[in-house]
Amino acid sequence: MRRNFVPWRAAGTTTELKRSADEVVRDTGWVFNNRTGSHLNLAEFVETGDHETLAYLTAFGLGDDNHSSQTLVEIGAGIGRMTASFTRLFGRVVACDLDAAFLERCRETVAQFGRPERLQTSPVADGRTIGLPDGVADLAFSYITLQHCHRDDALALTAEAVRVTRSGGHIALNYRTWTAGDAVLWPAGSVVRGLWRLPKVGPAIARNRTVARLGWQANRLSPAQVLATVGARLTDVKIVRSPKRRSFAIDGTADESFEGVHRSHWWLVATVR
Ligand SMILES: C[S@@+](CC[C@H](N)C(=O)[O-])C[C@H]1O[C@@H](n2cnc3c(N)ncnc32)[C@H](O)[C@@H]1O
Repeated sequence: MRRNFVPWRAAGTTTELKRSADEVVRDTGWVFNNRTGSHLNLAEFVETGDHETLAYLTAFGLGDDNHSSQTLVEIGAGIGRMTASFTRLFGRVVACDLDAAFLERCRETVAQFGRPERLQTSPVADGRTIGLPDGVADLAFSYITLQHCHRDDALALTAEAVRVTRSGGHIALNYRTWTAGDAVLWPAGSVVRGLWRLPKVGPAIARNRTVARLGWQANRLSPAQVLATVGARLTDVKIVRSPKRRSFAIDGTADESFEGVHRSHWWLVATVR
């Protein structure tokens, strides 16, 4: 098993043991959103997702489409923080995640706050393959997930996002790249990821928030590295970054900034050829 799976499997198992998605958020909401605390309930947690789906779709120029007849594939849905909102917007939503226990909670979240009849779930058992046919999606979307995968899996999932999206459809995928703080964070994270491999100790460490946070940022990818894998399949490519960082200056792509993008993040927004 990839060592990067350890914290997510541990969190998934914890999720499974809770009585409800609400209890999951109260006890382990930190797994999904660093800005939240244990005081937050599921309704408030989902509300953060409601704002973000609309903000990102609008910022990426994807907000005006007639989504009610469209299919969205969400890679790394977790317990459905954004999925609930997506089911209110899109006619069909396929929520994909490494851990099937998260997807069970995702169904519960969508049943309470979204349109469950529009939801399908699809486990990503090997962390890199989406179990859907080619071209089913109008939009493939992923937020705060590809940074948590092994680098090769993040690139494989990027290629999968392109594969499952129809010609003329869109991808909006979020990545993490290098910042100055990584001089300390990256070596510390490598040590933590090494510890996850240890029997018994590894899963215990993976459940500790402070330590897990250091380790779960498992890769840094630049737009050039991602486009080397999938660029030939894309057109109208936009790299959307934080206004606090300089343009990545990639020839043939549009450089855009949006204040909702974290300084260490960037988004690949493009049309599939
Ligand atoms: C930080 S959560 C983000 C969840 C959701 N996108 C949100 O913004 O609330 C990251 C999610 O990615 C999932 N994940 C991690 N590695 C994955 C992989 N290789 N394939 C699919 N999902 C993965 C985790 O299980 C977890 O649910």
